[in-house]
Amino acid sequence: MPLRRVNGTLQIDDIPIPKIVEFVGTPVYAYSWQTLEERYHWFESCFSGIPHRTHYAVKANSNLAILRRLAELGAGFDIVSGGELERVLRSGAPPAHVVYSGVGKSTEELSFALKTGIGCINVESTSEFDRVSQLGKTLNIRPNIAFRVNPEIDADTNPYLATALSNSKFGLSEKEVLETACRSKSSPHINVIGVACHLGSQISSVNPYGTAIADLLKLVDQLQEIGMDLHYINVGGGFGISYDLEKELQIAELASVLSKQLANRSQVLCLEPGRFLIGPAGTLISRVEYLKVNDQNTRPNFAVVDAAMNDLIRPALYKARHDIEIVLDSNAPCKKWNIVGPVCESADFLGLDRLLSISEGDLIAIKDVGAYGFVQSSNYNSRTRVAEVLVDGSKMNLIRERETMDDQLRRERFA
Ligand code: LLP
Repeated sequence: MPLRRVNGTLQIDDIPIPKIVEFVGTPVYAYSWQTLEERYHWFESCFSGIPHRTHYAVKANSNLAILRRLAELGAGFDIVSGGELERVLRSGAPPAHVVYSGVGKSTEELSFALKTGIGCINVESTSEFDRVSQLGKTLNIRPNIAFRVNPEIDADTNPYLATALSNSKFGLSEKEVLETACRSKSSPHINVIGVACHLGSQISSVNPYGTAIADLLKLVDQLQEIGMDLHYINVGGGFGISYDLEKELQIAELASVLSKQLANRSQVLCLEPGRFLIGPAGTLISRVEYLKVNDQNTRPNFAVVDAAMNDLIRPALYKARHDIEIVLDSNAPCKKWNIVGPVCESADFLGLDRLLSISEGDLIAIKDVGAYGFVQSSNYNSRTRVAEVLVDGSKMNLIRERETMDDQLRRERFA
């Protein structure tokens, strides 16, 4: 874990948090390279006994510095837009190590991806299949595709994070896969290389993956019967972490379950972890602006901090609970606080009912925000997006400057 308290001061790896604040101010996202690297190696070691490919889910955190370092470790990438592909290419990673999912890929995005020589398009509808084959014909190439299936498995997660329910927009039904596969056999402009699924995110049990891989293998067999030889089975991502009290998905157990089911199979397993790798590596550092104490106990005590829902929307959007700690030990009386931001919305909270000893001017650390933190930030209330720092041992690297108002207003015009 990246955070430890040394002589009463919280630090990220070897850097005391106040040093980061001196360097770039608040609010700031700070990531521990050591944590990310360790988690990547741990993940890889769990799957080392199975032929596999790890495609980091770019959507979790798409900062160029992070992508480049992961590419240097040997990761491939899972993307969902032309923008993410552009980032991966600029980070220097080879397009052949990229898989492209998503229900709404535009012709422009598909054509861009195909021209780069992307590793695989995970096709999510029959219309998309037709569009890719048409593009293959126009470009005179034979794109690699996988069928993304919706296996209709309830992975027992937040409804907003579930992607394989019968009412989910993602993927093809098994029937659609088989019908489309028959058509693809006669298409010289499509090369079907695999099947894929993604059950959802923040999943804490191995069981849904066991069910999903069994379903995918059945489908592989049915496709084999119609003469189709597949090389890849992609079980997506979604591997849950421990934000607060929930338990982290046991990756070693997952690997063991999947390896048993894949024994005697020729297919390579593909995995798309996002949150598992980078979630625990990130901390949002913020300063307490005002304390609004209510001694009558008729309403909550509010600690108004300088970070807000536009910087971290997970609590407002998913009722996600991120642990919050004070940066410097303090003798202030310990009280229950609602940690809220300056945005004019009652949903603007970062943590509710937190027992903390805080005073105005103190720094707080909001934990486990490396995934889906900065990437989901916005300019709501005309707030500028915050800075990002990558801590590497005793070195601080500014990997994204704090936005300025000029950055924010650059594209607006009077009319
Ligand atoms: N593969 C596909 C096709 C996905 O759609 C996703 C995430 C992943 C992999 C990576 O999932 P992970 O391993 O990171 O759980 N904004 C939400 C999470 C949305 C996830 C969307 N898809 C949050 O803040 O919790």
